[in-house]
Amino acid sequence: MKEPPLIHWLQEVDSTNSEARRRIAELADRSVVAAESQTAGRGQRGNSWSSKPGENLTFSIVLRFDPTEGFQAKDQFSLSQATALGICDHLGASGIPARIKWPNDIYVQDRKICGILIENSLREGLIVHSIIGIGLNVNQREFPPHLPNPTSLFLCDGTQRRIRDELPRLLKSVFARIESIPDSIEELREDYHRRLYRLNHTCDYLDLSDSTLFKGRITGTSENGLLRVECIDGSTKEFAFKEIGFVV
Ligand code: BTN
Repeated sequence: MKEPPLIHWLQEVDSTNSEARRRIAELADRSVVAAESQTAGRGQRGNSWSSKPGENLTFSIVLRFDPTEGFQAKDQFSLSQATALGICDHLGASGIPARIKWPNDIYVQDRKICGILIENSLREGLIVHSIIGIGLNVNQREFPPHLPNPTSLFLCDGTQRRIRDELPRLLKSVFARIESIPDSIEELREDYHRRLYRLNHTCDYLDLSDSTLFKGRITGTSENGLLRVECIDGSTKEFAFKEIGFVV
């Protein structure tokens, strides 16, 4: 077991991912940049990430990879799987059953409790460093109306938590999963598969290539992380991120 990660707590920053990227040269492997408040939190697909100051966890983990050992860029989805599973492990230990909405949103029932934004820097087919940004809703009770389906730990179990106590516990679970790579790639894949939101349920989806609605059943993911959906006519389609929408 390695040392606990070094956490740099900031009162306010635009985005912990942006701050980690600006300070990448000075940040050691396994450092964490955490902020009480983000003024320009970033989400996936160029969206913003909204979080009430002081109520939730917003932080970024910095991983640096030794070029001689080489973390292959083609294996980058395993980082996403490990992070999502580590968060689910942590929530599960608090009695909150979480699932992974492909590729890496964390859901409790039909509500999003946590978002992940991973930014990898690549060189010659290898990951040089990775910035893993995590926004976990902890104590927030009310959310802006434009957010479709948010929830928080407090809304799940009525417990108010101290965010600075919550972070080291969450990091322990996330690092345990990340540091199990590369020995556990297959186990990660299987655990991730089992944890998928809507796995084996027939639901409505939007094919974003032509904006058509269709009914399908998520059956898993391919080795490179594409989502496999079995359509009602028995055919199987694979979707990349931004190619499919979940109809809630
Ligand atoms: C998403 O679901 O769209 C991803 C959200 C990721 C939000 C976190 S909060 C900490 C880190 N800093 C950011 O600016 N974004 C990530």
